[in-house]
Order: sequence, then C-alpha cells, then structure tokens
Amino acid sequence: MKSIETQRLIIRELDMSDAKRLSEYRNKREVAYYQSWWRYSYNKAVKRIEYCLAHPFNGTKGSYQLGVVLKKNNYLIGDYFLEVIEPASVTVGYTFDSDFWHFGYATESFKVLLDILKNEYKFKRVFAHVYSDNFRSIRLLERMGFIQYEKSIVMGDIGFKLDL
Ligand SMILES: CC(C)(COP(=O)(O)OP(=O)(O)OC[C@H]1O[C@@H](n2cnc3c(N)ncnc32)[C@H](O)[C@@H]1OP(=O)(O)O)[C@@H](O)C(=O)NCCC(=O)NCCS
Repeated sequence: MKSIETQRLIIRELDMSDAKRLSEYRNKREVAYYQSWWRYSYNKAVKRIEYCLAHPFNGTKGSYQLGVVLKKNNYLIGDYFLEVIEPASVTVGYTFDSDFWHFGYATESFKVLLDILKNEYKFKRVFAHVYSDNFRSIRLLERMGFIQYEKSIVMGDIGFKLDL
C-alpha cells in the first residue's frame, strides 16, 4: 500500500527499523492487556516485520500490518492489523502506544484508513472484535460508526461491523 497522510500522521508499511519501537509499545502491560499476546519481544517484532515486508497490503486474502508514525519525526506510535478473509470484508485491529493515547491519533488515522479501504480497495464491510470492558476501543469504533452485531458471553467479546 502506498503511504497515507493525515493531518498529523502517516500510515505506512512497516520496515525493519520499526522493530524496536513495535516491540517496545506492544510489550507494555496496558497495551497488551486486551490483546492476543502478553509479551511482545524484539524477536517477535522482527519476525512479524519480515512477514510484512514479504506481504505488503494489496487488498487480497491474507493478514497485514501497517505502521502509524508521527509526520513530524517518523516516530512509530501504533499499528493497524488487517485481515482479509473474503473479498468484500476486512477485519481490523489497532494498537497504539499508551504514551500516545487520548490525542485523537487513532480517530484521525482510522477515519482515513476506512476511506481508503472503501474507495481504493472497494471493501464493503469492516469487522472488529473487542472485549466488552475495553471502553477506549469501543468508543473509537462507535465514533467511526461501527455497530454491535454479536456478543459472546463465553469469550466476553463483542463483534462490531461497519458497512462502508
Ligand atoms: C483502542 C485505542 C487505540 C484507543 O486509543 P485512544 O487514545 O482512546 O483513541 P484516540 O487516539 O482516537 O483518542 C480519542 C480520545 O482523545 C480525545 N482527544 C484529545 N485530543 C483530540 C484530538 N485532537 N482529536 C480527536 N480526539 C482528541 C478524544 O476526546 C477522545 O477521548 P474519549 O475517548 O475520552 O472521548 C488505544 O486505547 C489502544 O491502542 N489500546 C490498546 C490496544 C487495544 O486494546 N486495541 C484494541 C483491541 S480490540
């Protein structure tokens, strides 16, 4: 995917120089708390970036990751995980460094990313899954217009969807 510029940010493919930052913030307790990992080592970040370098986002079936950097200094503050399972739908996950929460960076980048997914890649629907007490994430999804479509009592997570 070619880089996307927003007012304060750039969303772009990850490269190997991002490995240290990726593991640094993904390894923080409060960042990992609602995620599928507990620790995120430097080696894990290197492996993931190796995968990403071989699989840049092209809208086809597969899993992808994009970095979010501050425009002013190219500092990695978060990332988006994208998974395409069937042609018209994409599942999105997002992870931002807690030092950069509450500045509107997720809102700003997600809005533009959704526009690109709709207009350039022609996706029709976006899914996201969130633990029911991850209120920051739920607020973000609701701000983007996502609506709840399922709730798993056993897993404690909620499925959200957005028709583009
Ligand atoms: C989910 C997550 C991305 C949300 O981060 P966030 O900082 O709340 O989201 P934003 O960057 O969009 O900031 C929005 C907040 O900043 C405020 N804000 C401050 N300055 C702002 C600005 N210039 N523009 C917009 N909002 C601004 C908003 O009012 C909003 O506050 P509110 O939620 O209390 O209403 C973040 O908590 C995270 O990465 N968590 C860990 C990983 C995770 O749980 N991922 C989701 C798994 S499903």
